[in-house]
Amino acid sequence: MSFKKCSWYSLLLCSIGSVMVVYYLLRWSWQCWHGFKVYVLSEIWQTNLRTYGQWLYGATSGIGRAYAEELAKRGLDIVLISRSEDKLRRVAKEIESRYKRQTYVIQTDFTEGHSIYSAITQQLEGLQIGILVSIMLSAFFCLQRITQVINCNTLSVTQVRLSVWLVFAVRGKGLIINISSEAASQPQPMLSVYSATKIFVTYFSRCVHAEYRSKGITVQCVAPFMVSTNMTHNVPVNPLVKSAASFARDALNTVGYTTYTGGCLTHALQVTPHTRSIEPQLRERMAETRNKQD
Ligand SMILES: NC(=O)c1ccc[n+]([C@@H]2O[C@H](COP(=O)([O-])OP(=O)(O)OC[C@H]3O[C@@H](n4cnc5c(N)ncnc54)[C@H](OP(=O)(O)O)[C@@H]3O)[C@@H](O)[C@H]2O)c1
Repeated sequence: MSFKKCSWYSLLLCSIGSVMVVYYLLRWSWQCWHGFKVYVLSEIWQTNLRTYGQWLYGATSGIGRAYAEELAKRGLDIVLISRSEDKLRRVAKEIESRYKRQTYVIQTDFTEGHSIYSAITQQLEGLQIGILVSIMLSAFFCLQRITQVINCNTLSVTQVRLSVWLVFAVRGKGLIINISSEAASQPQPMLSVYSATKIFVTYFSRCVHAEYRSKGITVQCVAPFMVSTNMTHNVPVNPLVKSAASFARDALNTVGYTTYTGGCLTHALQVTPHTRSIEPQLRERMAETRNKQD
C-alpha cells in the first residue's frame, strides 16, 4: 500500500520535475537565441539608421561623443550639446573634417533646470531631428548638488524629448536612445542619487516606448556596465570594460533588435546572479562599515 502511494507521488514529482526542466531549457534557449540575434546577427544585418532622419543629438566626450562619431560615420549629420562652447566647436570641427558631415552646436547646462528648454527648442527648429541620444550625466554629488544631479539626469531626459517630439509625431518616425546604467538594476548604496535617477531613465524609456511605438516612435534604453570615459577616469579597456567607440558601435547595432539592452555582448553577459544578488549586498555592507567609521 505504502509502496503504491510512494510510486504515485514519485510519478507526480517526476512529471513536475520534467515539466520544469523543459520549461527552463526552452526559456534558456529563447534567451540564447535573443542574445545571438541582438549581439551577433545585428552586426551583420544592421538597421539603416538614416531612415529615421538626418540629425542626431550627442555630447562632446565619452559615450555621447562616440555615438555621434559612429552615426556621422553611418551618414548622419550631428547636433552636439554640452556645457563648454570651446569643446563643442573643437569636436564639431573634428567630426566635420573626419566624416564630412554637417554639425551644429548648442551650448547649455542641463543642471540649470526648466529655464533652458525653450532656448533649446528654438535652436532645434528647422532641423530634421530623427534620432535623439540622451546621455547627459551628473554622477558625483555632494548634498548641495542633489537638485542639479536630478535636473541633469532626469529632467533633461524628459524635457529634451519634448523638444523633438513634435517633429517625430508629424513625421510618424523617430528614435530616442536614453543612456541609463546597469547601476540602476539594483539599489546602489553609496551611489544612491545616481542609481535612483538612472532607474527613472530606465522606467521612463520603457513606458514611453510602450505608449508611442504605435505612432512610429522607438525608445531604446541602453544600460551599460563599465565603459572607459572621463566618468570612469578612463579606466583601461579590458575584456569587461569597453572603449567608448567600440561600445557605441555595438550598441547602435542593437537598434531595431531590442528596446532594452546592456549595449554589447560582454556587458549583457555580466548581468548574472553575481550583479543581481552579491554586488548589492557588498555595497550595503560597505555603506554600513563607512557609517560606523563616521
Ligand atoms: N562610463 C560608464 O562606465 C557608464 C556606465 C553606465 C552608464 N553611463 C552613462 O553614460 C552617460 C555618459 O557617460 P560618459 O561616461 O560618457 O561621461 P563623460 O565622458 O563624462 O561625458 C559626459 C558628457 O555630458 C556632457 N555634460 C556633462 N554634464 C553636463 C551638463 N550639466 N549639461 C550639459 N552637458 C553635460 C559633457 O560635456 P561638458 O563637460 O563639456 O559639458 C560630456 O560631453 C551617462 O548618462 C552615464 O550615467 C556611463
